[in-house]
Amino acid sequence: MRAVIRGIGSFLPQRVMTNLEMSEIVETSDAWIQERTGIRERHIADEGQFTSDLGYEAALKALQDAGMTADDIDLIVVATSTPDLTFPATATMIQERLGMRHGAAFDIQAVCSGFIYGMHVTNALLKSGGAKRALLIGAETFSRILDWTDRGTCVLFGDGAGAVVIEAVEEGALLKEDASGILQTFVRSDGAHRDMLYVDGGPSRTQTVGHLRMLGNQVFKHAVTDIAQVIRDCAEQAGVDIADIDWFVPHQANQRILTAVAKRLKLRPEQVISTVAQHANTSAASVPLAMDTAVKDGRIKKGDLVMLEAFGGGFTWGAALLRY
Ligand code: UT7
Repeated sequence: MRAVIRGIGSFLPQRVMTNLEMSEIVETSDAWIQERTGIRERHIADEGQFTSDLGYEAALKALQDAGMTADDIDLIVVATSTPDLTFPATATMIQERLGMRHGAAFDIQAVCSGFIYGMHVTNALLKSGGAKRALLIGAETFSRILDWTDRGTCVLFGDGAGAVVIEAVEEGALLKEDASGILQTFVRSDGAHRDMLYVDGGPSRTQTVGHLRMLGNQVFKHAVTDIAQVIRDCAEQAGVDIADIDWFVPHQANQRILTAVAKRLKLRPEQVISTVAQHANTSAASVPLAMDTAVKDGRIKKGDLVMLEAFGGGFTWGAALLRY
C-alpha cells in the first residue's frame, strides 16, 4: 500500500495582529521582530473560537479539495498542543462537527513537530491496513498559552489550522507513471532539552493551563543543526538525493532558521516555502498552512518532490518526504 495525499486545505482566523499592535503591548518594535524573525503579522482566534473550530474549517477545505465527504474518511488525527479541553481529544470534537459517526479519531501531541509526527503515524496506519482514508489536521490556538507580558515569546506565535486527506492506495492500482505518495517519514525526540521550550502548567502538575516558556537563542541553535540532520537522514532512508528535492516546506518558526537550514542543505532560497511573515509560528499548523499556500498559488504541482520538516518542544523533530 502507498499513502497518497488527495486534498489539502487550511484556515486562519480573521483577526490579523500586526507587529505595531505588539509594540503597544510589550516593549518591542516592528523593526526588531522583522529583523530577528521575519514575522510581520499573525492571525489571532476570536474569543469563543477554539482549536476544534479552526481544525474543522481546514478539514472541510481539505475534503472539498479531495472531492470527498466525511463519509469517505475512517480516521481523524489531530496534531495539537492547544486542545479545546484536556479531554476529550480535539479530533473527536471535529469528528462530531463533521457528522461522522464511524471510524476513529485521536490527538497527537508533539508540539511544533505534531504534523510530521501525525504524518509518520498516519502513513504507518494507512500502509498497514489500519485505516483507508485519513484526515490529518494540525490546529492550534497558541495565543491562549502565551504570556502576553513576555516579549521574548509573545511576538513569535499565531493561530491557525491546516489539513490533508491521505488515502491508502494499492501500488498495483496506481498508474505506472503515478509516483505520488508519502515516500519516507522520520521522527526524533530528546527529552533532555525539555526545559528549553515548555509550558509551565498542566492538569497533573499544576491544575492550570500554564504559559509557554522558551530559551529562544538555545532553541535556535538546536533547531538549525537538528533540522538539517533529520532532512539528510530522511532523504538517505528514502534513497533520494537532496539536490533532487523540488520544494522545502519547513516549520515556520523564524526566517533566519529557514535560511540557515536551506544554506546548509544547498537549497536555493526560491525552493523554500516561507509564510512566517504572514502566519508567524502556528506550531503544528505551520507546515500544512505553508504547504497549502504553495499548492494553491501553483508553486507545488502534482509530481513534485517535497520535503517537510519541523522542530519543537520536547525536543521533538522530524521530516517527511513526499511526491505530491
Ligand atoms: O517552534 C519551536 C521552535 N522555536 C524556535 O525555533 C524559536 C527559536 N528562537 C528564535 O527564533 C530566536 O532565538 C528569537 C527570535 C526568539 C530571539 O532572537 P535572538 O536573536 O536569539 O535574540 P536573543 O534571545 O539572544 O535576545 C537578544 C536581545 C535581548 O536583549 P539583550 O539581553 O541583548 O539586551 C532580548 O532581551 O533581544 C531582546 N529581545 C527583544 N527585543 C525587542 C527579545 N525579544 C525581543 C522583542 N523585542 N520582542
